[in-house]
Amino acid sequence: MRRQRPRGATALAPQRNPAVAAMKALAFWRWILLACLLATSAALAQPAALAQRYSPAPASADGIGKRYMGREIAAVMGWQGAAWLEREDREREERTDLLLAALALRPGMVVADIGAGTGYLSRRMAPTVMPGGKVWAVDVQPEMISLLQASAKSSGLTQIEARLSSADDVKLPAASVDLAVMVDVYHELAYPYEVMASVLKALKPGGRVVFVEYKAEDPRVPIKPLHKMSEAQIKREAAVFPLEWERTVSTLPWQHVVVFRKQG
Ligand SMILES: C[S@@+](CC[C@H](N)C(=O)[O-])C[C@H]1O[C@@H](n2cnc3c(N)ncnc32)[C@H](O)[C@@H]1O
Repeated sequence: MRRQRPRGATALAPQRNPAVAAMKALAFWRWILLACLLATSAALAQPAALAQRYSPAPASADGIGKRYMGREIAAVMGWQGAAWLEREDREREERTDLLLAALALRPGMVVADIGAGTGYLSRRMAPTVMPGGKVWAVDVQPEMISLLQASAKSSGLTQIEARLSSADDVKLPAASVDLAVMVDVYHELAYPYEVMASVLKALKPGGRVVFVEYKAEDPRVPIKPLHKMSEAQIKREAAVFPLEWERTVSTLPWQHVVVFRKQG
């Protein structure tokens, strides 16, 4: 006797076997379970990766008790020390004129002074990017932002624009910056990896990032050890990002100027 074809079924429809259907359902749920397990382990791995990036350590007098790539991160220089940034001897001691020459600024460039403090460097860079350029003066301390806004205003430098950042993000528009410079700042970033990632995002393709740090290699430089960095350490930390080392200027008496270019 011929079995009645169920209503709506085509001639090609297979016969329904309960055992085959059960096996298919089992396979389906196995895939769902596997996907859930993978998603959960990825979510758990994220905080673990973050925890591995930084490690706790007993805080030294000038540090924050947090290590990154083999060094302890220095404590942020408070706004109460602002007068030291504006000291009369600074130009002679640090040869800021040589630093400015090393930056090779041009009219029309957009420069980000990350950790600008009172704006000592911003004010010196601002005239050289005119006409058409601008200086983003970025700092994490609102008090420093007030000080740098006042100093830019009294100098009549309208091309300086202050930006309050967060500890882990410079908060600048994407692909807007030709050159980002950090003078005596990088060693005290509480989140160096995240800040650098945000700097990279803000740089135009081919843009430059410049680290200016007191030379750890030179014991005569009268700065506390945690506030110095060796050229090798700067290169090691920059190597985590798509940055190509361009040159190191060593002619300044206390600092080295290490220049990288964003790849791509
Ligand atoms: C030693 S001061 C140098 C100031 C300025 N670059 C100069 O040479 O005159 C370091 C500055 O970096 C700032 N800073 C520290 N962490 C920062 C962060 N995550 N983002 C932006 N600025 C930061 C501090 O608030 C401080 O003003």
